[in-house]
Amino acid sequence: MALSIRAKALLFHDPRSSALLEQVERIARSDATVLVIGETGTGKELIARHIHSQSERKGPFIAVNCGAFSESLIDAELFGHETGAFTGATQARSGWFEAANGGTLFLDEIGDLSMALQVKLLRVLQERQVVRLGSRRPIPLDVRLVAATNVDLHKAVAAERFRSDLFYRLSVATVNLPPLCERPGDILPLARHFIGLYSAKLKLENVDLGPDAEAALLAYEWPGNIRELENVIHYALIVCRDGSIRSEDLRMVGTLHRSRPASVPSQYSQPLQLPPEQQQRHLHAVPASRAEEVQPAPALRQRLESLFNEFIEAGEPVLFDTVEEALIRTAYAWCHQNQVQTAKVLGISRNILRTHLKRFGLIGGTDGGAESSTPAESGQFRHISIAL
Ligand SMILES: Nc1ncnc2c1ncn2[C@@H]1O[C@H](COP(=O)(O)OP(=O)(O)O)[C@@H](O)[C@H]1O
Ligand SMILES: [Mg+2]
Repeated sequence: MALSIRAKALLFHDPRSSALLEQVERIARSDATVLVIGETGTGKELIARHIHSQSERKGPFIAVNCGAFSESLIDAELFGHETGAFTGATQARSGWFEAANGGTLFLDEIGDLSMALQVKLLRVLQERQVVRLGSRRPIPLDVRLVAATNVDLHKAVAAERFRSDLFYRLSVATVNLPPLCERPGDILPLARHFIGLYSAKLKLENVDLGPDAEAALLAYEWPGNIRELENVIHYALIVCRDGSIRSEDLRMVGTLHRSRPASVPSQYSQPLQLPPEQQQRHLHAVPASRAEEVQPAPALRQRLESLFNEFIEAGEPVLFDTVEEALIRTAYAWCHQNQVQTAKVLGISRNILRTHLKRFGLIGGTDGGAESSTPAESGQFRHISIAL
């Protein structure tokens, strides 16, 4: 399975990581509820997926971000609802607990759960059954729960923002993911991994990492951890020349590692723009079966189609335009406003791309025509904010 091989190969590099991976795999085989603790970007979700893939559970892995919902929505999302349970509930829907039946439910940012929902969650965990909103019929559950937090839940318990009984129930097994700077042996293998991953997406070949870039990567403190490293490499691939990443291609915003000599040039001061999928992580289900994980394309397509269904059901008035605009904006942000790369990623010509960019006000010009390329490249439009 692609995912576990990837995680294994990389987590094994630093001795701390390989010890952690062994612990995770031991835990995975049980059905115990797991609490994954770590700073943002340390790989909590990846670990949760790995726990699922290493378990014997045949059902799906469902990821839910507890911080991304309004109070009233998350209730229905988690537990499901019957027709007419609330205004707008025109159809009965199963919640995420039901959807994860036989599999694993990953509750991300569990520290963001309101007190009211904490009570409900506790009840589900105790009773191992769920009752949809507007229904009385309990539905039995066989769900393995993995929760993640980047806040200190002990402190939250002490401050009475998190129920201690829920905390103890969630932390039957805990996995502490150290920040990237505490496992330096992972930095370069991860960087190379991301070079491979993003080179393929950007249709680049044989990009390597210059010695000065390696030194800079090792000297940095990585406040945004692996996600920041991924981002830095993605950006470096877009701006690097002659198939080699140099230190000046690396945009890092934090400070240098405290324990190392400050031998790194001082150009790491430009703002880093996170791609939208990393700015806002809402909720998504990943493929149910292992066979599907090996071929992500059909599963991704299914997710896309089910999203379209939701849009259609919601009666989105100008669906075609909405989808087109979202696609163009997302790809343009992902490529850090580089038109040549955006066109490549989308598989369209640069002229056609420019027509769309103008239409959506992402670049200047009012003619909307597919005129020849003017140098309205990257830097100029960095201020555009993307909200999907
Ligand atoms: N050990 C690893 N090997 C490869 N990629 C990793 C590893 N850990 C994290 N990543 C990648 O780093 C990014 C952030 O990981 P994620 O699990 O979303 O972090 P968190 O949930 O802690 O914020 C993701 O793109 C993930 O695939
Ligand atoms: Mg996460």
